[in-house]
Amino acid sequence: MSQRRVSAKCCCALSLLFGFILSLVSASAAQSGGKTHAWMNTNLSPDERAAMVVKAMTLDEKVQLLHGTGMVGLSPMSPLAVHSNGGAGYVVEIPRLSIPAIQMSDAAYGVRMSGENGRYSTALPSCVAGAASWDPQGGFEYGGLIGRELRAQGYNMGLGGGVNLTREPRNGRTFEYMGEDPVLAGKMVASVIKGIQAQHVLGDIKHYAFNDQESGRNAVNITIDKRAARESDLLAFEIGIKESDVAGVMCSYNRLYGDYACENKYLLDEVLKKDWNFKGFVLSDWGAVHSVEKASAAGLDHEQPGWIFYGDDLKKAVESGRVPQAELDDHVQRILRAMFAVGLVDNPPERSVPDVLGGLEVARKLEEQSIVLLKNEKGQLPLDASKIRSIAVIGPHSDVGMISGGGSAQVDPPVGNAILPPGKGQTRWLEPVWFPTSPLKSIRAKAAKANVQFDSGSDPSSAAALAKTSDVAIVFVYQWESEDMDLPGLGLPEHQDDLIAAVAAANPRTVVVVESGGPVTMPWAGKVSGILEVWYAGSGGSDAVANVLFGDVNPSGKLPLTFPRTEADLPHPIIVKPPKESRANYAGPEVWKQIAAGLAPFQVTYDEGVKVGYKWYDSENKPVLFPFGFGLSYTTYTYSGLKVTPGQNPKVSFTVKNTGSRDGAEVAQVYASLPAAAAEPPKRLVGFSKFWLKPGESKEVTIDVDPKFISIFNVEKNGWQLLPGEYSFMVGGSSQDLPLKQSVTLN
Ligand code: BGC
Repeated sequence: MSQRRVSAKCCCALSLLFGFILSLVSASAAQSGGKTHAWMNTNLSPDERAAMVVKAMTLDEKVQLLHGTGMVGLSPMSPLAVHSNGGAGYVVEIPRLSIPAIQMSDAAYGVRMSGENGRYSTALPSCVAGAASWDPQGGFEYGGLIGRELRAQGYNMGLGGGVNLTREPRNGRTFEYMGEDPVLAGKMVASVIKGIQAQHVLGDIKHYAFNDQESGRNAVNITIDKRAARESDLLAFEIGIKESDVAGVMCSYNRLYGDYACENKYLLDEVLKKDWNFKGFVLSDWGAVHSVEKASAAGLDHEQPGWIFYGDDLKKAVESGRVPQAELDDHVQRILRAMFAVGLVDNPPERSVPDVLGGLEVARKLEEQSIVLLKNEKGQLPLDASKIRSIAVIGPHSDVGMISGGGSAQVDPPVGNAILPPGKGQTRWLEPVWFPTSPLKSIRAKAAKANVQFDSGSDPSSAAALAKTSDVAIVFVYQWESEDMDLPGLGLPEHQDDLIAAVAAANPRTVVVVESGGPVTMPWAGKVSGILEVWYAGSGGSDAVANVLFGDVNPSGKLPLTFPRTEADLPHPIIVKPPKESRANYAGPEVWKQIAAGLAPFQVTYDEGVKVGYKWYDSENKPVLFPFGFGLSYTTYTYSGLKVTPGQNPKVSFTVKNTGSRDGAEVAQVYASLPAAAAEPPKRLVGFSKFWLKPGESKEVTIDVDPKFISIFNVEKNGWQLLPGEYSFMVGGSSQDLPLKQSVTLN
């Protein structure tokens, strides 16, 4: 475990005052010179504009654009870092050429470190929750809000866009990613990035690639069959990158096929830049660079957070011809092109007061779209506020807050961690943070006539006693995740399973609300009457949960990842941990030097290949707790009239009817099985659509299937290949509830 971020932040804060004054000076300098430069002509293409700037730059200016200015604990600090806006990365401006600074902030589910910088940010539901909405329009709003708040705080690049597949559900960053399916994850991350970039803020997709576990991330070497790689994790990146025209792709810490990701020719040059024709720039994860020539030739364009390799050493390498001038210019061109394409040169960020109330509303609405109703026995939910006389609200901290995801994604809650005294709750690396969104208060507001009492659950017998005398018990449980750690298992921590069992034994009307970043095991699932998965619910979380519990909102989220019955059913029941020699010595000084030099590799082999998530459980015939794509509603839907029109882009049409008595939104899912010769898992998601229906209303849905989604990746031909043969298309509301099926021959 590293402790690096603790000290890293102080330095940024110290530089802030100077930075603010100097940034005003430099910003006006950039603007005054602005109009005189030919590349400020907005009629020119981003490529043309960038090429003109490259021609006008000195070698020093070029090198300066290719690295950050340092972060305590991860690199030395540059005296130029004084202009930093307080975010994770800062690239010095070039006022002479009207090229603004790049001010980068982490922004996975909201803008990070705002509290420390005396600002405010909205926390959206975690990224995996965004994926659970299955709603690209919602994804666009998600990104839009992040983009607006980045700009308001003086940033022009957001570091988010995590799209590593949930290959290892104990990965401590599962909440930052978009689930286990490449089509869903790729489409959803693209929509978020489009939303961010529409605000003239550079977007980023990360961590490229196969950083699917945190344990030993700076040392691990990943091996996976190349076809499986292209059809799984890399497909998610491919869809996300191509559909969003994202500015930046962050290469990850780990090795793949023996080479570090940030100096991996296969990943950066062959796949990303050549096969996918990526026009943006590759930036390193923080401290993930290990070489100059090798990294540059492989396609790394930009080093963060410092210039251990891409400073003087890069300059010397260019001067001596070890790095060709054209290669250097390509790195520079890519960064400038992205800046022009997204519009940040023409529309610099304007500091303003974030729209706090608007942000809360967006956060609440997105959460309402993302909550997944997993169990609802005898229609116990929604609760009827006019009839209920007493409610027991049980569970750790559910009187004051809801848990949030940690690490570099952490958004600072207003006033600080809700479980600490006001003003004392500074967020710290690897410490769980509770947002001040109180389930108890939101439930009390809904059920004004009922006697709503709270019990923390620290003593299960007292919680059970309260539950026994209440009409209904609502138990809030959590599982915290963070970057820089993996979960020891999928079970709830702090004996929460025992708490639920005790409450459920006391009151058959027990509803469990799970706040988690990914799947949890539920030995008590058969004993309770209701289960809601609410993820890390964000700033508006408790109101969203109450709206679903009391039926103001009909739940419509569906699982973007499988909930297995037990860890024993996972492809790898045990996570491979780094041996001693592969771990950095965080107690020692300048640990970054050890990491930069490269830690001894240890091996993780993804021999399950393409069989990630449901593809694994399907292939292995393993029953699951809750399947991918699953989620209940307070209404019901029927599916009928499937028609598959074969062709270049097969069209799948069908009708969905709301047969219940409430308005609702359904996520219709289309899966395909490939001809036997493809030797693929039994089915894969190839399309989906979310839409609203009133009671009795029907909708005819047509989904054009992208031929790539029904193809295999042919490694020898280095391309996607649609095999001739029989394809079955299956349609329904979950990967295990597919009432419609039709087979067609494609050739
Ligand atoms: C994380 C990245 C993050 C960066 C900057 C790294 O530790 O892996 O996701 O963007 O730090 O904070």
